[in-house]
Amino acid sequence: MYTGEKLSLNTIEDSFVELCFNNASGSVNKLDQQTLEELNEALDCLSQTNNVRGLLLTSEKPAFIVGADITQFNQMFSASEADFLRTAAHINGVMSKIEDFPFPTVASINGYALGGGLEVCLACDARVLSTDAKIGLPETGLGILPGWGGTVRLPRLSSFITALEWITSARQYSATASHRAGVVEMVVEPENLRSQSLHLLYKMAGGEIDYFESRQRKLSPINSNPDENIEVVADSFCDMVIAKTKGNYPAPLKAIELMRETVKFTRDKAIEYEASTFYKLSQSSQARALIGLFLGDQYVARKAKGYALALDKKLPDVGMTGVIGAGIMGGGIAFQTAIKGLPVVMKDIQQSALDTGINEADKLLQKAVAKGKMDNTKAEQVLKIINPVLNEEPLADCQLVVEAVVEHMPIKQSVLSSVEQQLATDAIIVSNTSSISINQLAKSLQHPERFCGMHFFNPVHVMKLVEVIRGEQTSDQTIAAVCNHALRLGKKPVVVNDCPGFLVNRVLFAQCFAMELLLRDGVSFQQIDRVMEDWGMPMGPAYLMDVVGLDTIVHCYSVMTEGLPERFVKKDKMPTEVLLEAGRLGQKNGLGYYSYQASEGGKPQKNNDQRSIDLLTSITGNHCEIEPQTIIERLVLPTAIEMSHCLQEGIVDSPTEADMALVWGVGFPPFRGGICRWMDEQGIDAVCAMADKYSALGELYKTTDALRTMAADKKTFYG
Ligand SMILES: NC(=O)c1ccc[n+]([C@@H]2O[C@H](COP(=O)([O-])OP(=O)(O)OC[C@H]3O[C@@H](n4cnc5c(N)ncnc54)[C@H](O)[C@@H]3O)[C@@H](O)[C@H]2O)c1
Repeated sequence: MYTGEKLSLNTIEDSFVELCFNNASGSVNKLDQQTLEELNEALDCLSQTNNVRGLLLTSEKPAFIVGADITQFNQMFSASEADFLRTAAHINGVMSKIEDFPFPTVASINGYALGGGLEVCLACDARVLSTDAKIGLPETGLGILPGWGGTVRLPRLSSFITALEWITSARQYSATASHRAGVVEMVVEPENLRSQSLHLLYKMAGGEIDYFESRQRKLSPINSNPDENIEVVADSFCDMVIAKTKGNYPAPLKAIELMRETVKFTRDKAIEYEASTFYKLSQSSQARALIGLFLGDQYVARKAKGYALALDKKLPDVGMTGVIGAGIMGGGIAFQTAIKGLPVVMKDIQQSALDTGINEADKLLQKAVAKGKMDNTKAEQVLKIINPVLNEEPLADCQLVVEAVVEHMPIKQSVLSSVEQQLATDAIIVSNTSSISINQLAKSLQHPERFCGMHFFNPVHVMKLVEVIRGEQTSDQTIAAVCNHALRLGKKPVVVNDCPGFLVNRVLFAQCFAMELLLRDGVSFQQIDRVMEDWGMPMGPAYLMDVVGLDTIVHCYSVMTEGLPERFVKKDKMPTEVLLEAGRLGQKNGLGYYSYQASEGGKPQKNNDQRSIDLLTSITGNHCEIEPQTIIERLVLPTAIEMSHCLQEGIVDSPTEADMALVWGVGFPPFRGGICRWMDEQGIDAVCAMADKYSALGELYKTTDALRTMAADKKTFYG
């Protein structure tokens, strides 16, 4: 009846028709512009056909529809409001056509139906879900909301509470949860999906099952259920969202407000309101940031795969790997390797470190078992493939070895040179150093081309980022193999060039130095932490220093002042040094900027400590609070300027990778989209003006030529 590139319409039997999504030009079905146009044409074709008894919607791909094509968002959201609303009305018209046919419609959902994909299904009279499928409305996670009728149909089909939960959480739901919530009518085994869906459709067409009632519900205002007081429920969801997000994410709040309002309306009026709110959210800085991160994630993954594919010969996957050092990082890396099913040799010089490494891995596995994420057999298998050893010989079979011993150059050099003797001639060695130059370490090796940095973040099993640090002599083959390996470990590799602090710590230390200047001016570290946490950072800088360890921080300061002395200037004693000299190491000895006591669960609890305030006032003579905005500008600006230096020097290839690295590596607030995105949102000229305002504070605040040129040319990082 209709054949397009994205879908086709065919008569099945007995005047029943099947609309099958089967994207001929891609691996998945998306609800992109072309699919929507073809859907519209196919539906028009169907409405001109006589005697149709029912419509079945299916997919030939492993997933029904994974959602909108997010690469088309920029274009769609840059239209004028009037044009946007015209497009939205057109698309909503297509959805409503499905709902208004004079015969029943059933969506037969396999794999995933997300976002617009689920909204198509909600327009149908019934949904049958495969037991292994997942559905959800992830839009608020991108700073927008479901814009093709999702906020209107979901509360009418299931309940107001379910709709608020699904839309504000942006989560994907299992078949069982979806059925329990009343979002789908049936859940069936994958092999029976089509036949059972058809069976349901026949029954609806034959009058055995009434579909008019649910259709009528979707067209009408919600008859408020006395158990479900709309106002009370909406208020409590607002409170929950604000508690979780500090109000930094407007999309879920706007979605709640919208649904609170539109439950009183009929379908078409409610959909008009939805489109208008959708447009407003699409223009928010948070939507730009979150959509940018989604696309950035894909860009980084493509680039990492590209490194491997660009080489002449396809790289074999790394088989056996080794980790030297079973401490916090080495133990974490060994665990992460084993949990991905890859055997790993874990070497240390102390039996106690090996025992701790295995015990920590066991604790994490037991937690996963307790949460039902893994069974005992799998947990035992993971532990079995970690081979703890005290001598080097078992490393001989490893194709890739991660050095994660103490941060001490001579020790690392001797470990690297010794392990190189053990390994095969094509094996790769990487160092997890957080501050020692990769080029310096490479000097201890006979084959520096097979060496680079592989900087994991703590805790390894949680933090997604891995900085892959290219030394001057690192070969492309090595970068490719290490990126490939990072992907197999489920990590996000960003390739950077060697420099003091590499990328993430270099810009982070610009912020730490800026913090020391603020402390020198007598500003309260508690206020600094509070302001930066409100700004969206997962923890304030003083707290972060305590977590990392003040000894480690001060050690890294010397790396930065030696490596980049023009900006990382240490005139007087740093406040952090003063605390360190008083024996305050941070969380590791319970005394840092704050003091710490173990909670019942064993986690360190942060408390204010007058002794650290006294130590600081002894050098500053003051402990005061200032304008929060000044704190933000004085801390964020040096981060931005240092990132501009990194881009200018080619330490990182692109603003996208720079932003992704900061979000993944230090938890830079996702709703701000990264430091380059932050500069774009301020305006590059405003960033330069801000730098001029603070120029008296030193070189950390001196803007780069690159930023001045961008400002003059009215350019932005994201175009
Ligand atoms: N801790 C972090 O947050 C973090 C984050 C990123 C990178 N790093 C880097 O990772 C590396 C390890 O740090 P960590 O925090 O795990 O240290 P750690 O002190 O917890 O562990 C170091 C381990 O190395 C072992 N070791 C020392 N000499 C050895 C040798 N010759 N052969 C084998 N093992 C030896 C020690 O016994 C110890 O178990 C350092 O280079 C550090 O800079 C640490």
